[in-house]
Amino acid sequence: MPQAGPDLHLLTWGLPRLRALPWRDTRDPWAILVSEVMLQQTQTGRVIPKWLGFLDAFPTSAACASAALGDVLRLWQGLGYPRRARNLHGAAVMITDEFGGVFPDTLPALLALPGVGPYTARAVLAFAFESDAAIVDTNVARVLARVTGRRLGAKEVQSIADSWLPEGEAWAWNQVMLDLGATVCTPRAPACEQCPVAERCAWRGSGPDPAVGSAGVSTTQSRFEGSDRQVRGRLMRRLGDRPLPVDEVPAAAGIPADPERARRLVTALVAEGLAVVSADGRYSLP
Ligand code: ADE
Repeated sequence: MPQAGPDLHLLTWGLPRLRALPWRDTRDPWAILVSEVMLQQTQTGRVIPKWLGFLDAFPTSAACASAALGDVLRLWQGLGYPRRARNLHGAAVMITDEFGGVFPDTLPALLALPGVGPYTARAVLAFAFESDAAIVDTNVARVLARVTGRRLGAKEVQSIADSWLPEGEAWAWNQVMLDLGATVCTPRAPACEQCPVAERCAWRGSGPDPAVGSAGVSTTQSRFEGSDRQVRGRLMRRLGDRPLPVDEVPAAAGIPADPERARRLVTALVAEGLAVVSADGRYSLP
């Protein structure tokens, strides 16, 4: 039993309230990995249709591994941060080539996959294999900092999460913690009056928020309008349609008056393995 933190009461409170999300109906590790990678930087509502479409096209890691990276990137359109798609494809290739097609089910093996960090590895362990791993994403990190009333360090936040985890309940516990953070203990307007752990919470909504600057708590995403991310998104979408001649790059990037910036950004896409350039100077997806 956890000593300092909430206990099974939180589980009893949270289980009947769990949001119905499609990846909660599967234990398939590939499907879980895809959901977790998509959820790293994209909101739940936008992920659902993309997750369904992606798994339709690539129902197994083997199917993804045998696809061209360009096809994986096309299905990623609209989610942003396409490095995630490249890493997911790389993970599928690694599972096929190095793990003999058997999905890894230990922390070190999962951490060896491209794009899989401490959060995603533990999410796969808990949500696919139902093994005892406590996840710390931005939602959970916020809850832990507030309940303890302190700005936490990275090791500390993971060890508190570990100590709260009820043995044998990792699937349910982690889903409840995610939903507590996403629906009650929200960043700006926490509903402390509805919170099942309010009595044990050191912060309870008054005074400086200990979650601000605490380990694992993300800051708000920077502005999209006019950003490099937006221009890269335009280029990726255009490359998904047909090859792009070098002299058309600035217009396709939506910045015809700044060809230097357009060229810098398309060159970065090539350097990151998200685009290729042919000998006759045309860019396309890999
Ligand atoms: N964010 C990351 N993983 C999630 C999950 N399994 N359910 C809801 N939101 C999430």
